[in-house]
Amino acid sequence: MAKRIQFSRTGGSEVLEYIDVTPADPAPGEVRVRNEAIGLNFIDIYFRTGLYPAPSLPSGLGTEGAGVVDAVGEGVSHLKAGDRVAYAQGPLGAYAEYHVLPADKVVTLPDNVDAETAAASMLKGLTVQYLLRQTAPLKGGETILWHAAAGGVGSIACQWAKALGVRLIGTVSSPEKAELAKSNGAWATIDYTRENVVERVRELTDGEMCDVVYDSVGKDTWITSLDCLKPRSLMVSFGNASGAVEGVNLGILNQKGSLFVTRPSLNGYADTRERLETMCRDLFDMLGSGKVKIDIGQRFALAEAGKAQDALASRQTTGSTILLP
Ligand SMILES: NC(=O)c1ccc[n+]([C@@H]2O[C@H](COP(=O)([O-])OP(=O)(O)OC[C@H]3O[C@@H](n4cnc5c(N)ncnc54)[C@H](OP(=O)(O)O)[C@@H]3O)[C@@H](O)[C@H]2O)c1
Repeated sequence: MAKRIQFSRTGGSEVLEYIDVTPADPAPGEVRVRNEAIGLNFIDIYFRTGLYPAPSLPSGLGTEGAGVVDAVGEGVSHLKAGDRVAYAQGPLGAYAEYHVLPADKVVTLPDNVDAETAAASMLKGLTVQYLLRQTAPLKGGETILWHAAAGGVGSIACQWAKALGVRLIGTVSSPEKAELAKSNGAWATIDYTRENVVERVRELTDGEMCDVVYDSVGKDTWITSLDCLKPRSLMVSFGNASGAVEGVNLGILNQKGSLFVTRPSLNGYADTRERLETMCRDLFDMLGSGKVKIDIGQRFALAEAGKAQDALASRQTTGSTILLP
């Protein structure tokens, strides 16, 4: 028997159950991973609350983890039992001691990336990779606005942007989070719970405004974000920490300066094995070079997944959070 977290109905963190299961054998094309560390992500909360529907209930939760391959299904050639691996995509169920998933979503870890670092950075780091290198292929010299800059994705973005020579203005909700974002390389910070973000961006950029805005807060920041952009520039809406952006009248993009908008996801960018491997190479290079260091702000036991999610949802975490089986 092994432990896993599952939920049979959507709701608050109380719906998460810590149960015993017999780990399934991998089907053809699948592998079973014995998790050493599991990544906690805001998307896990969207599935638990029902904002994103789980394919069926009861359901496992979580899509990010790292550990050791424990069993290999028929037809899998790039992995074998004992390999150190990580993953950030695939079926819900990473909140578990053992997770079975398609082998083509699983990558081998370089020797210099340990399991905790991998679990804390696969989903978030690959997200930063596509956002900074693909959604907007930044070259250096641009000014960008990044909301929630002291969070998991934000902490990686601050460092990666600095390495690219991009001026990242990060929003945060406290002086402590501002300090953290600056120590990670944010060019400037704005406390969006106290300051007028549009005015501060105008001051900081001498009226030029931003080349790209990266907004994962969603409902609360949508309009402010549009107002921080240069004419004909790009709004990247990639999350809903405060609730989903709904009911958008496209005319607003005209009114705010002939803007472009995109609503991307990791699965939309790492959609082939080749693309996943290319993105992982870029991420592992950034980790290996020391240009991006992963800040694991919190560690929780797997059994305390609900407590960990409550901390993330109530803005008490900084950097990445991992669950330990
Ligand atoms: N589309 C994709 O491919 C993709 C992939 C990964 C993550 N994401 C998104 O990126 C965002 C960051 O993910 P993460 O896991 O690294 O989380 P996180 O940034 O560590 O935590 C979310 C942060 O959002 C801020 N926030 C603002 N308003 C909030 C509210 N009403 N409730 C809760 N938090 C609020 C908080 O920072 P302050 O206290 O500083 O405001 C909080 O710490 C999430 O929206 C997630 O869905 C998207």
